[in-house]
Amino acid sequence: MSQRWHEQEHSEGRGSAGNEQWQSAGEEGHSSTRPNRESGELIWQQRLHKMLQNAEQNLPDGALTAGYKADPQEIIALLKRAQASEWASFLQYWHHYFMASDIHSAEVKDVFKEHAEDELEHARFFGERIQQLGGVPCDSPEEITRLTPTPTEYNHDLRSMMEADLVGERQTIDFYDEIIRTCGFDDNVTRKILEHIIEEEAKHADDWATLLYAYDGSTGKQIESIHDEISQMLKSTTQGAGRMRRTA
Ligand SMILES: [Fe+2]
Ligand SMILES: [Fe+2]
Repeated sequence: MSQRWHEQEHSEGRGSAGNEQWQSAGEEGHSSTRPNRESGELIWQQRLHKMLQNAEQNLPDGALTAGYKADPQEIIALLKRAQASEWASFLQYWHHYFMASDIHSAEVKDVFKEHAEDELEHARFFGERIQQLGGVPCDSPEEITRLTPTPTEYNHDLRSMMEADLVGERQTIDFYDEIIRTCGFDDNVTRKILEHIIEEEAKHADDWATLLYAYDGSTGKQIESIHDEISQMLKSTTQGAGRMRRTA
């Protein structure tokens, strides 16, 4: 009923002044022609008044309002694991950046660095949301080690490093999908943050799938025929790189 009322109001192009005009007409005996609109207006007046009353309470809660439908402790716990995963991924990418030092690693080295910078941003997004919900971000080394769902990989040949990063990204995608489903429409802010981040993780995974194809598994050397594609990937945005994956 409220949705119908809402659509009716917009189709008639009226703002609040129009409502007042209509209400006056209803009081003069015309309300029987538009009963849904009258009750819809009343419902929304009551709802908005209640929202105002709620907003005036518990001011220190900030962005955590009375209308929040999820379990904040559950969401905070999940976000702390997600943030731990981002910190671990950030460290792993930097480690791989430092260790990718031979002649064949020159171009891939920069991809490790770019991804590390993305993971740092993701850790920041999660930390800010945890704080908004009243939690304490996961920032201590002990807590990161305990909570990260992705074990850190310290193999140092190029192919092993790329495979480890691809596995990590793929696990992260599944983990964030689960958190998104948990949020549903009960925590829209967290869901939107995750929707943005999971899109970037998918591009990361796609980058590694492409780069693994570009390297000979037995020698670790770059396949020359797609040298130009890799160079282009490194020059383009991450989004552009995601579109370059080969399937054959
Ligand atoms: Fe990330
Ligand atoms: Fe990632």
